[in-house]
Amino acid sequence: MMVFLIQLLLWGSLKVKGNFFVLTDLHYDIAYEPNYSSKSYCHSIALSEGPAILEKSIDKAISGRYYCDSPIDLINKVAWKMKEIDSIPDFILILGDHLAHHTMELFAESGNLNLEETKELVKKTYVDIDSVFKTVFPESQVIYLIGNNDGYVDYESFIDGQGEEYLEFLYNNWKELTGEIDTSFYEGGYYSVFTDNRLKIICLNSNYFSYKFEGSKQESNNQMAWFKQELNDSEENVIIAMHIPPGISIYNKAQQLWTDEYLEKFTELVQVHKEKILFIFAGHLHFSSFELLPDVDIPIIIHKSVSPIYGNNPGFRYYTYRDNFSDYIDYSLELKNFKWDSYRFSQLFEIDSLNMKSLYKSLVNDYGKLKNYISKAVGFDLADIEKSWKILLDMDYTSDKELGIATFLCSLLEISYDKFQICMEKMNSNMINNLD
Ligand SMILES: *[C@@H]1O[C@H](CO)[C@@H](O)[C@H](O)[C@H]1NC(C)=O
Ligand SMILES: *[C@@H]1O[C@H](CO)[C@@H](O)[C@H](O)[C@H]1NC(C)=O
Ligand SMILES: *[C@@H]1O[C@H](CO)[C@@H](O)[C@H](O)[C@H]1NC(C)=O
Repeated sequence: MMVFLIQLLLWGSLKVKGNFFVLTDLHYDIAYEPNYSSKSYCHSIALSEGPAILEKSIDKAISGRYYCDSPIDLINKVAWKMKEIDSIPDFILILGDHLAHHTMELFAESGNLNLEETKELVKKTYVDIDSVFKTVFPESQVIYLIGNNDGYVDYESFIDGQGEEYLEFLYNNWKELTGEIDTSFYEGGYYSVFTDNRLKIICLNSNYFSYKFEGSKQESNNQMAWFKQELNDSEENVIIAMHIPPGISIYNKAQQLWTDEYLEKFTELVQVHKEKILFIFAGHLHFSSFELLPDVDIPIIIHKSVSPIYGNNPGFRYYTYRDNFSDYIDYSLELKNFKWDSYRFSQLFEIDSLNMKSLYKSLVNDYGKLKNYISKAVGFDLADIEKSWKILLDMDYTSDKELGIATFLCSLLEISYDKFQICMEKMNSNMINNLD
């Protein structure tokens, strides 16, 4: 309390500064078996969806295996590494998708068809994750978001798909570390929260804006109206956080992740309130990336996953900001040898203040920098560039590197599919020639 009062007194004279962590897509797998191979996603139960091959592995991957979701040991390793870097960050932002893929399916397949019991196991995922952060960071504010794999049903309305009781559970589970979560949470899992150093974090539930969303339009409209009001009511120092970013996903031959309508509304609101916004953060893609927005200098910054399920290395970021300068250090855990690696954005890319427009220009013009960016995006070293291409660009593009590069670069530059296609045409006709 005392510290808070002093901070308040100093507030008028101090400009903003701080340090915080961002991580996403934990996909903690409550049914992880360290002695099973990735062919069954490290489960000892065959799933109806996906490869139903049960194969024991000769090694016991207690702390995580490529192409499987995360065991609790991996979540612990990540949290303790963060603690080593900063034991009292201003806050920790976790951008959604806490549940492992196939969680509901898994328990049904095991013959345990008791839905209520299955739901309890889903809830235990959140309790276990929360308990890691309570143990490692008992003093820090931890801000959790909802992703598309965070309910009993993916991409559904939180009210219809999961029920109020589920939101009540999350609210009670999270509020101890998160602090005052406002009651909009009960409308669909979105809320805003203040940090001790008076940043306002607007936590969207961007499932409602996804083209895959299956709930009522009215609920999506309500959230957008709430977002508009939240931005209008904020004086300054806003961070916008969400799970699914609005722009282009390069997976499945590229697609726009939000519907046109919400993409346009979001962009317009950011343009109107740009002076107040410090950062916009997202996850979902499992690799690090960014999206430039038209007519504003604030990019959407996308984070790689903790889960190594796409063959990526797990990781997180540590952000610092001082007045008009910001930077991050990106950490990756090399899963084979359990070695941590890191880079500082400003050093590796020789760019100040997370200026992603400059970074984009540099990636287009400098193939060395592009290769560096690509390998780091999935948590690998430059030496692993070929593997990184494969992970990042799916198998669709690996036979056509130029197409892959164009797709990746256009996904950074354009958030709407129409403009993305125009970018692709231009990019293909004057593609970088000197690929080695
Ligand atoms: C895998 O490991 C678990 C826990 O150590 C053990 O109970 C189980 O029997 C093992 N499964 C197989 C098939 O070896
Ligand atoms: C938006 O904010 C402005 C300035 O703070 C205020 O005058 C206006 O009434 C607000 N609009 C709404 C709809 O709340
Ligand atoms: C930060 O602000 C100062 C003074 O307002 C200015 O001189 C400097 O160029 C700015 N730095 C950046 C990175 O924008």
